[in-house]
Amino acid sequence: MSSLVSLQHVTKVYRTDHSEYHALKDINFDIQRGEMLAIIGASGSGKSTMMNIIGFLDHCTTGNYLFSNMNVSHLSDTELSIIRNQKIGFVFQAFFLLPRMTALQNVMLPLYYREEAKDIAIQKSMAMLEKVGMQRFAHHKPNQLSGGQQQRVAIARALVNDPDIILADEPTGALDSKTGDEVMDLFLHLNKHENRTIVIITHDKEISRLCQRVVTLRDGMIV
Ligand SMILES: Nc1ncnc2c1ncn2[C@@H]1O[C@H](COP(=O)(O)OP(=O)(O)OP(=O)(O)O)[C@@H](O)[C@H]1O
Ligand SMILES: [Mg+2]
Repeated sequence: MSSLVSLQHVTKVYRTDHSEYHALKDINFDIQRGEMLAIIGASGSGKSTMMNIIGFLDHCTTGNYLFSNMNVSHLSDTELSIIRNQKIGFVFQAFFLLPRMTALQNVMLPLYYREEAKDIAIQKSMAMLEKVGMQRFAHHKPNQLSGGQQQRVAIARALVNDPDIILADEPTGALDSKTGDEVMDLFLHLNKHENRTIVIITHDKEISRLCQRVVTLRDGMIV
């Protein structure tokens, strides 16, 4: 079976005028389709850097990145952004919903970028809101929703394009533990019943314990 994601000898160096920082050092790492895994490690260990590379938000400095067997290491930013929109669903600690838009409009955004017809976009987005238990709140704005509800809307938005992989950076970091558990239940459900591939970055041992595999980063290396 071939991997969905394969990082081969990947490094990331951040350069400024006066210094360089080796944020990732020779990372070799695969993700299989249908896996649910946690990435843990101390602050500054390179978790978000690795997620940004996996999610086509940033390039690696050296090494190769194969996505579905295609080498994407040398694609341009424009090419990467096209794959990113089609293949990756992001969930962030701070939700990043647009405040002036309703839950439904937020979920519709990725479809809007894909120039999906409006009636189909509404239909698909309502179906995603239903999946995360938020259809009742479709016409609420983010400030009319609790943190957990906002995160569920963000997960619906991440799912609406039917991505190959969901990348979640501290998705429960801004939530109390009960609400965080509910969000984790949703991820577990999506993994188990829809075979979704999910990567969760977390500081929380309880969260990582729920994942099939735990990868630990230390000083830019997998340990
Ligand atoms: N754009 C940048 N320019 C320079 N250095 C950076 C940049 N982004 C990250 N770094 C450095 O790279 C290292 C890894 O950062 P990263 O954000 O990946 O850590 P992290 O494991 O996600 O930490 P946290 O748990 O705090 O989110 C840190 O030392 C950070 O200061
Ligand atoms: Mg981080």
